[in-house]
Amino acid sequence: MLFSAPLTLDDIRSTLATKSLGQHLHLHQELASTNSEALLLAQAGTPHGTVVVAERQSAGRGRRERHWYSPPNANLYCSIVVRGIGPVLTLPEWLSWVPLVSALAVAEAVQTRASLSLSLKWPNDLLFQERKVGGILCESVQISSDSPIVVIGIGLNVNMTTDSFPEDLRQTATSLYEISHMSIDRSTMIAQLLLELERSLDELQRYGPDQLRRAYASRCQTIGRRVRLLLGHEQELLGTAESIGADGALQIRPSIISSEGQRPALLDIRAAEVIHLRE
Ligand code: BTN
Repeated sequence: MLFSAPLTLDDIRSTLATKSLGQHLHLHQELASTNSEALLLAQAGTPHGTVVVAERQSAGRGRRERHWYSPPNANLYCSIVVRGIGPVLTLPEWLSWVPLVSALAVAEAVQTRASLSLSLKWPNDLLFQERKVGGILCESVQISSDSPIVVIGIGLNVNMTTDSFPEDLRQTATSLYEISHMSIDRSTMIAQLLLELERSLDELQRYGPDQLRRAYASRCQTIGRRVRLLLGHEQELLGTAESIGADGALQIRPSIISSEGQRPALLDIRAAEVIHLRE
């Protein structure tokens, strides 16, 4: 494992340029999961923009109830409490855009601070050449239309070396260090990430998703790909991902040709595990 300077509140605050995200900042040496801690704080009334960061997680959680490998002193594990949807979106629209917009914000922060261009796999995996560098887990509490709360959990592999990944992740995961051969300052990266996220959430809240949708689609490697979708209950769908819908859905043209020989209609997919197929 490469040495990374320990995270400190002073270092993070010294480069933080946000108005609301991170103004309440909690840094822990170890937590079970920063998302679990942020959900507890959210239920106890913590303000919008509260951020929880941990040096390591003993029970980091990924999407689809997977474990998120979270060793100490190398990566970023942080969760942000977000309240308020603004006037232009409905609650379901806001809830489906927040995870996509969060992945976009992380990719922009990495571009700025590490000069690396990550792509996105719908809905919110951060990839470099098909290998996973980071992921987002959004969880909601106390959903009501007048005060929804979402916790955005971000895991980003920063200074991990390949040999420190467990065997089963070595072929599929990578880190910013492995891609660039440069050690990245994690405090500066957190500050940039919060700034990009604040800008994107503000844009979503004030003007809706139009511009973010274009930015997301141009980074999204899933568009144009042949994909296999795992839909739950052992259901699968093969098709081509054509676009991102106005509500953030992945629009798929199924591969099956109807008995009349017609092209099947586009399907809007709102929840699925996506597998990119080789062309
Ligand atoms: C995924 O499966 O791709 C999502 C991974 C999200 C991991 C992050 S690490 C910080 C936060 N706390 C957690 O327990 N999970 C998220």
